[in-house]
Amino acid sequence: MENKETGEAVELAEGIYWVGAIDWNGRDFHGFTTPGGTTYNSYLVVGEKTALIDTVKEPFAGEMLKRIGQVIDPEKLDYIVVNHMELDHAGALVELKKLTKAKVLITRRGRDILDGYFKASCSSWDFEIVRTGDRLSLGGKNLLFLEATMLHWPDSMETFLQEDGILFSNDAFGQHAATSKRYDFEVGDMIPDAAEYYANILMPFGTPLLRYLGKLEEFGIKPVQIAPSHGVIWKQDLEKILKAYTAWANGEVKEKVLVIYDTMWGSTEIMAREITEAVRQAGVEVKLLHLRKNPRNLIMKEMLDTSAFAVGSPTLNNGIFPTVGDFLVYLKGLRPQKKKAAAFGSYGWGGGAVKTIEQELKNSGVDVLEPGLQVRYRPEEKELEKCRELGRQLAEIAKK
Ligand code: FEO
Repeated sequence: MENKETGEAVELAEGIYWVGAIDWNGRDFHGFTTPGGTTYNSYLVVGEKTALIDTVKEPFAGEMLKRIGQVIDPEKLDYIVVNHMELDHAGALVELKKLTKAKVLITRRGRDILDGYFKASCSSWDFEIVRTGDRLSLGGKNLLFLEATMLHWPDSMETFLQEDGILFSNDAFGQHAATSKRYDFEVGDMIPDAAEYYANILMPFGTPLLRYLGKLEEFGIKPVQIAPSHGVIWKQDLEKILKAYTAWANGEVKEKVLVIYDTMWGSTEIMAREITEAVRQAGVEVKLLHLRKNPRNLIMKEMLDTSAFAVGSPTLNNGIFPTVGDFLVYLKGLRPQKKKAAAFGSYGWGGGAVKTIEQELKNSGVDVLEPGLQVRYRPEEKELEKCRELGRQLAEIAKK
């Protein structure tokens, strides 16, 4: 059971092994900055027959194969369960299939994606399409499949190991953290990492997530461990993470305001600080977030439980600053729920930034407080007072 970080397979329970890979140096996960790296978790279940649940990112295939090889000969693997076809989990599939004739169990949509990526390699593979409620007996270990459509791809699926109560949840409940430990109780509080992961990967999918949690109840599934495909396994904090996921999926927010901005010659920053101070004086938690000092995924983590926010930009070439544009594009994709926002910014002659921000916020589904606040060159006292008014208004919204 003990993981000594020797590169060995880790036995999680009798006949269940972690055989994944640790990406200590991963610093960018398709735009998600990961200063602490990540893991790609692959699990081997050994009954009378054997099944591998998910693989790893392709460059880590050797690491995974080495770990599998410490438990069984990979050639003798009977089944490979593909919970999700994104290449951080399915990238090593081709390498593995060169060694084994194992049958691939996958959803219909997953099969389409697999064809899209690996058509040249997979035509001779043995497949079985699985749906919600399908089961696979390994002899002493029984797997139940549950489609988890749009958590976070159309093909996403989760697999429940009935005898041991382990839910192999793939991306859901993940965290980007490279660690030599496999369990939550070995590393401390991982809820903040899970919040950041949720905000950046699963935020748009609150409705399918609630549907999925309902499905767990319908099937009477009460996991005693949730083993995601990134980060640590939830055991000690299992109830906590389930509660947090329910709150996040419902878009629950707290008394909190964000002031997000970039600045060219300091005017937008003066406004941002004035707004921030007014929120603070109104007794509401506030965070000032400069877009060149904070990765967008950290800002989205803060966004998760925020009631209201303001976005500020100087006008550049009649539009917004590039970093503000980058953030607004990212925000639009993540479709935050139940939030109100305002735009502010500075300009010299034509203006344009505030209108562009407002339009982009509306496109993100955010309720926009209009009109936004514009200042020409440097804010004077009457304009600073307007910034304070905006801060008080945002604080009032947060209190409601
Ligand atoms: Fe961790 Fe959707 O892949």
